[in-house]
Amino acid sequence: MKKILAPSILAGDHACLRDSLLLADQDGREWIHLDVMDGHFVPNLSFGPQTVADLREHSSIFFDVHLMLDNPQDHIDSFVLAGADLISIHVEPEYEIAEALSKIKSLGKKCGIVLNPDTPAEEASPFLDQVDLVLCMTVNPGFGGQGFIEGVLSKVRDLAYRRAESGASFLLEVDGGVGLDQVDDCVRAGVDVLVAGTAYFGADSQTRARFASSVENRGEPELSS
Ligand code: DX5
Ligand code: ZN
Repeated sequence: MKKILAPSILAGDHACLRDSLLLADQDGREWIHLDVMDGHFVPNLSFGPQTVADLREHSSIFFDVHLMLDNPQDHIDSFVLAGADLISIHVEPEYEIAEALSKIKSLGKKCGIVLNPDTPAEEASPFLDQVDLVLCMTVNPGFGGQGFIEGVLSKVRDLAYRRAESGASFLLEVDGGVGLDQVDDCVRAGVDVLVAGTAYFGADSQTRARFASSVENRGEPELSS
């Protein structure tokens, strides 16, 4: 499976997010990661469905929408309408998660489940045969530019093992503090999609290209030692 670098537009210039989107598109990225924050579930606010819909007009790359909301089930329709290709929702808030995931699929989109750094892999177990992606946060969500939490990779390895054992086909994604230095460990642990905001949009074109090729030219994940 080809590895994917998904730039997080949270780290783009919010006065002209279209330029950040076009930069990633013209760089040749196939995914863009869009972090939606409600100021409740996470202590930050970012943007809503109208921003996603307006960005959709300017690029056909894969919109990987990460809902950091207390009530994601109430916002699925609006983000599907806005043009999301994949919608990932957190396990931590109290709501009918399986129902919400089924709704995303019934609307023809890919669905993902998200685990905060301290949330154990077991919390995702009930949904692993239903989801297209499992996102393991490698920072406590809310802000870009934080440090990568190495310990999360043991959770990634555990989920990669469960995936192999069960024959499930979900992608494994990490998000938060990811840069060139984290690529090897992430791919070895079984990660398929690496989200990077600061390390991507804060870099010059040469560094972005080096970062991207270190991810996208990887073969199958080596079995973790
Ligand atoms: C939650 C957000 C961030 C962002 C990536 O906080 O999901 O993790 O996408 O942030 P960087 O790559 O700048 O750490
Ligand atoms: Zn995210």
